[in-house]
Amino acid sequence: MLRVLVLVSGGGTNLQAIIDAKNEGKITGVELVGVISNNKTVKSLERARNAGIPAVSVSPKDYENRALFNEAFLEEVNKFTPDLIVLAGFLVAIPPKMVSQYSNRIINIHPSLIPSFCGVGYYGLKVHEKALERGVKVTGATVHFVTEGMDEGPIIAQKAVVVEDNDTPEVLQRRVMEQAEWLILPQAIDDIANGRIAVEGHRVIKK
Ligand code: GRF
Repeated sequence: MLRVLVLVSGGGTNLQAIIDAKNEGKITGVELVGVISNNKTVKSLERARNAGIPAVSVSPKDYENRALFNEAFLEEVNKFTPDLIVLAGFLVAIPPKMVSQYSNRIINIHPSLIPSFCGVGYYGLKVHEKALERGVKVTGATVHFVTEGMDEGPIIAQKAVVVEDNDTPEVLQRRVMEQAEWLILPQAIDDIANGRIAVEGHRVIKK
């Protein structure tokens, strides 16, 4: 069984999609061993506990500086001995030491078609505001491996979503979640758990 640890920061709708997909048999060969949030009082921790998954929070606010947080955070992650770490709406930079320790074993969901609308400062609603500002007709979501750079790792899966003329950022965010994020993230986890993914250089090949 692939030991999967999920990192969250907010509402946890992507975490819920993973939990539901596992319960419906759309994800097999996976044990959800834990959830870590960088916020104490978020719905995602409640979703984890309702699903019987151990859930803890490790907040940068509780540490004097980022280096001390990074160390404590990585220590907490290692306690779960994960095989795969899933960033599901996680908004804290992953410590470089953790990226190298879990090379090609950390995946992230980003709410755009990378390389559009990604990188530093592009997260959550901001991504959709920029997509609407630019006037794109199609956007979507991307699952990718996490590397040192922000949103630069090999792309595992993408799904396009139509932008409607009268979309607001909130309406577009919800459509991207419903029609893309909540589908491709569970699918990517199932593909990895069942050995259907191979990384060749910067490309991900589905076997
Ligand atoms: C989503 O738009 C996700 O793509 C982004 O964070 C937002 C909230 O995700 N990474 P969730 O509801 O906490 O899963």
